[in-house]
Amino acid sequence: MNNIIEIKDVEKIYASGNKALNKINLNIKEGEILALLGPNGAGKTTLISAVCGITVPTSGSINVDGYDVIKEYKSSRKLIGLVPQEIALEPFEKVINTVNYSRNLFGYPPDDNYIEELLKKLSLWGKRDSKIIELSGGMKRRVLIAKALSHNPKILFLDEPTAGVDVELRKDMWRVIKELKVQGVTIILTTHYIEEAEEIAERVAIINDGQILLTEEKDSLMKRMGTKKIEVIIKNKIEKIPNELSSFNLTISDNKQKIIFTYDQKRSDLDILKILNFIKESGLDIIDIETTETSLEDIFVNLLKE
Ligand SMILES: Nc1ncnc2c1ncn2[C@@H]1O[C@H](COP(=O)(O)OP(=O)(O)O)[C@@H](O)[C@H]1O
Ligand SMILES: [Mg+2]
Repeated sequence: MNNIIEIKDVEKIYASGNKALNKINLNIKEGEILALLGPNGAGKTTLISAVCGITVPTSGSINVDGYDVIKEYKSSRKLIGLVPQEIALEPFEKVINTVNYSRNLFGYPPDDNYIEELLKKLSLWGKRDSKIIELSGGMKRRVLIAKALSHNPKILFLDEPTAGVDVELRKDMWRVIKELKVQGVTIILTTHYIEEAEEIAERVAIINDGQILLTEEKDSLMKRMGTKKIEVIIKNKIEKIPNELSSFNLTISDNKQKIIFTYDQKRSDLDILKILNFIKESGLDIIDIETTETSLEDIFVNLLKE
C-alpha cells in the first residue's frame, strides 16, 4: 500500500513556548484505519490540525497524496474530511443546509443524491429540516460527520469522535467507519478510549508528550506485548502453592481461593494442562476456570510508565 499521508520531522512550538509536537515522523497508508492513541495534551489535535493545514508546523513537512499541505493547501484540503473535537455549528441553520454549505465550501457542485444517501446513512434524513439548535448532542455529532463527508473525501479524520457520546451513537459511528473503510476511505481517529482503538483500528500509533512512542499493527502489538491470565478457582482455601507447582509462575489470590497463572501469548498451552493436572492431583477441588487477556489498555499504560 502506498502512503497517502507523509509526516516528516514535524515540530510545533506554540507562541506560548509550548512544544506540542516533537519531531513527529509518521506515514499513513492509503485505505487503512489508524488510531492515534494518547492521553490528554499529548498533541493529537495539534497533529491533525497540522495535516489539515489549520496549524502551521514550526518545522518539518507534511504531504497529503503528494500535495504539500502548506504550499498546495487547496488541493490537499479537498481530499480531507475532518470531524473536529469541538462542536461548532451555526445554531439556527437547518441540517440539510449546513451539510450542503460545507460541500460548496470545497468547490463542489451540489449533489442531492449523494447528500440524501449520506444523511440516511447517518440517521439524519428525518431531521434534515430541523435547525441545529433543536438537535440533541448526539445528533449534532452526526451532523459534524455529515459535514466532514459532504465532499466525499478520500481521507477522514475523526478527533475524539466518541468522547461523551452514548453507546448507541458510538456503535453507529464504528459501523459508519467500517463502511467507509470498505469504500476505500483512509481513516485516522484520535482517541483516549483504548477500547475504541481495539475495536476498529488496524494500526495504532501511540503519542505522548508530542512524540510518537510506537507505531504497529494492532494485532501484532497485542500478540507481542499481551499476556494471558488463567485463574483456577478452588473449593477450599489454600495458604501456599503446592511444591509440585513451584516451578511455574503462580500466585494465590487475596481470598486464597484462586490460583493465578500469568503467561505471555507465545507460550504453549501445554503448561496449562500440566498445571491443571498438578492441581487436581494435589487433591484440590477445582470449581471453575477463568481466562483473561490483557487489553490494549494494559499495554498502553505499561508503555506510558516506561
Ligand atoms: N492554541 C494553543 N496554544 C498554545 N498551546 C496549545 C494550543 N493548543 C494546544 N496547546 C498545547 O499543546 C499541547 C497538545 O495539545 P493537543 O494537541 O490539544 O493535545 P490532545 O489533542 O492530544 O489532547 C498541550 O500541552 C496543549 O495545552
Ligand atoms: Mg485533542
